[in-house]
Amino acid sequence: MELRVKEDQERGLELARGIDLAGVERLKEEAERALGEARSLQDLEEVRVRYLGKKGAITLALRSLASLPKEERPRLGGALNELREGFEQRLFSRKAELEAVERQKAEALEMIDISLPGRRPQVGGRHPVMEVYAHLKEIFGHMGFEVVEGPEVELDYYNFEALNIPRYHPARDIQDTFYVSEEVVLRTHTSPVQVRTMERRRPPVRIIVPGRVYRSDASDASHSPMFHQLEGLAVDRGISLANLKGTLGTFARELFGPKTLVRFRPSYFPFTEPSAEMDVSCVICGGKGCRVCKNTGWIEILGSGMVHPKVLENVGYDPGEVSGFAFGMGIDRIAMLKYGIEDIRLLFEGDMRFLRQF
Ligand code: DAH
Repeated sequence: MELRVKEDQERGLELARGIDLAGVERLKEEAERALGEARSLQDLEEVRVRYLGKKGAITLALRSLASLPKEERPRLGGALNELREGFEQRLFSRKAELEAVERQKAEALEMIDISLPGRRPQVGGRHPVMEVYAHLKEIFGHMGFEVVEGPEVELDYYNFEALNIPRYHPARDIQDTFYVSEEVVLRTHTSPVQVRTMERRRPPVRIIVPGRVYRSDASDASHSPMFHQLEGLAVDRGISLANLKGTLGTFARELFGPKTLVRFRPSYFPFTEPSAEMDVSCVICGGKGCRVCKNTGWIEILGSGMVHPKVLENVGYDPGEVSGFAFGMGIDRIAMLKYGIEDIRLLFEGDMRFLRQF
């Protein structure tokens, strides 16, 4: 391009010396061809400079008119001006053409194919344990129970002592409890939150307490060192075993369906007296007997009882005046029954292939 500019300039000078009409015609043809050959706006700008720039061929030819004899100026001047105007017009329209081409190219690059299937945003789902918890919260919420939470790293006092579990009780066995220090443990159940709540409030108290609990169990299909419990507590004047049975029966039918039967078996917990375990008719076989209920037709679902007078005394309540019932259940175990999950570890491995099913 450099060389051609130079050539054109020399040609301009040459023209300036001895320009004639044939020379103007040749210049016109050349300029036309150069315009036609420009393939981009950049090419076009180079062509413009070559002919119309300060040292462009047409500019120089026009400037040279001054050195021509006076009588020749109008004719050649007319022809040259016509050439310049024609060139400017062609330049302008060529520019518009090339701009349109470049715009099309740019648009093609940005084009959106509206027929392509979109990318679905990844939407999370509720974990089966949280799904069951939400249901439990709703069921007990309707019966007037309020959600309360407590610490997972707990004082020995709340986890054991205040719940009437004395120093050398087997439940404190080092094999079950993760000790943080002599006085601090990872809570082994959600029951300590009963005590913490009663300490802060006067009856009536009606709470449920969801949360993680920890036990130093070897993990297998039905044991995990961390699992979830839901604790319940109702304390008021005149609360009796009938209230316990009514509340927990309602709960079982809400959770597992209206045909669900419940039965209470006498049991023992240090913090309740009397104590009972509640079974529900097998949610798998309906009571006929299957692998899940080990052919008994019943499945144990929770521990419960009337709050032990000593526990009431520990929080400053008068057992002669108020009474209460309490219960505790494993949320994971219920999730496993409800969804037919056979290994508790699946719940805590975070495997998306498993979790996406819920
Ligand atoms: N805390 C007991 C456990 O971890 C469950 C339990 C049983 C809670 C009876 C209670 C209750 O509130 O009354 O196994």
